[in-house]
Amino acid sequence: MNDLASIAAAWGWHGAELAPLTGGLINATYAVRISDEPVAVLQRLHPVFGAEVNYDIEAVTARLIAQGVATPRLLRTRNNAAWVEHDGRIWRALSWEPGQAIAQVPGLEWAARGGELVARYHRALDGFGYRYRFVRAGVHDTVAHLSKLQQRCMLGAAAAGSADNDPIVTQAIELGHRIMALANWSFDLAAMPQRHIHGDLKISNLLFELNPVRGHCLVDLDTVGYGTLAFELGDAMRSWCNPHGEDAGRVTFDMPIFQAAMQAYFAAVGSAISYAADERQSVVHGLLRVCVELAARFCVDIFDDAYFGWDAARFASRRAHNLLRAQGQLALAQAVATSFDDAVAIVA
Ligand SMILES: Nc1ncnc2c1ncn2[C@@H]1O[C@H](COP(=O)(O)OP(=O)(O)O)[C@@H](O)[C@H]1O
Ligand SMILES: [Mg+2]
Repeated sequence: MNDLASIAAAWGWHGAELAPLTGGLINATYAVRISDEPVAVLQRLHPVFGAEVNYDIEAVTARLIAQGVATPRLLRTRNNAAWVEHDGRIWRALSWEPGQAIAQVPGLEWAARGGELVARYHRALDGFGYRYRFVRAGVHDTVAHLSKLQQRCMLGAAAAGSADNDPIVTQAIELGHRIMALANWSFDLAAMPQRHIHGDLKISNLLFELNPVRGHCLVDLDTVGYGTLAFELGDAMRSWCNPHGEDAGRVTFDMPIFQAAMQAYFAAVGSAISYAADERQSVVHGLLRVCVELAARFCVDIFDDAYFGWDAARFASRRAHNLLRAQGQLALAQAVATSFDDAVAIVA
């Protein structure tokens, strides 16, 4: 029996077909099929997540089910363990859910149905008294990312002219200053209410039913926890409203997608959650903030020559790939800044 098969055996899946699923970026995911029927996904957690996150997923998914909202459930092993450790890595299983994952928003209908799905999730968790076991520190610490960027720009400028200086670093310094120039905000996001959030609502984490299109459920629940609506929906809209993706040279902020998603979201929340006017507006502030934050992170990665997965087929170097990503996020941030008032009018 190979390693994967022996891990699956902990759940009693002897002789199951275990096929890798593509589409995710963080966890290694395998579909578990028995007699050609998918029954579960088996996932190896990325090390940034602690094993205890599985208790949180179990609690959140139990609440969703109790509220009649579709979701994958955490499946315990035959020994009633919430996960299995193998070679120092954590493995867990979730029940299989039908539905189609998409990499980009194909049209306004999908944006609206996706907004409604997120609303159902938020409604079901509103008022849920639960203390999360696993809390990831430093998520969306925009200030920390920007001060890192400032420090790299200073060090880079000091090193300019030295023999081993990569010309891309000169471009990165210039880019870094343009990113920092966008970071002048007064809205206090930290003062907004803490809510139960999914934490990673990129479009590939929604499963859709087809004909007619309907949001079925959310997957990728490792980031569940408390957070603000601003970061939850801001981060979602960053992904949904840039239909060409992070690596595209062509970046747009698709206002009709934003409008379709946000109107459907707030309509489906209805009066079930009382969002004050400033909390609704905070979504647009959050959107701009996450774009600037991500541009800053990609720009820091240019200086540090860091990033786990650069595309060697398309780019001359890791730095060149990061430069394009940072430029793309800055362009998105600028597009959001330009449409800011229109976006606020939509959520208001
Ligand atoms: N419970 C599930 N049922 C069916 N498909 C799933 C399930 N969980 C994940 N998937 C599929 O596997 C992909 C990757 O899983 P995900 O949890 O999003 O991992 P990653 O963190 O790597 O993005 C998803 O985009 C989805 O297509
Ligand atoms: Mg995912």
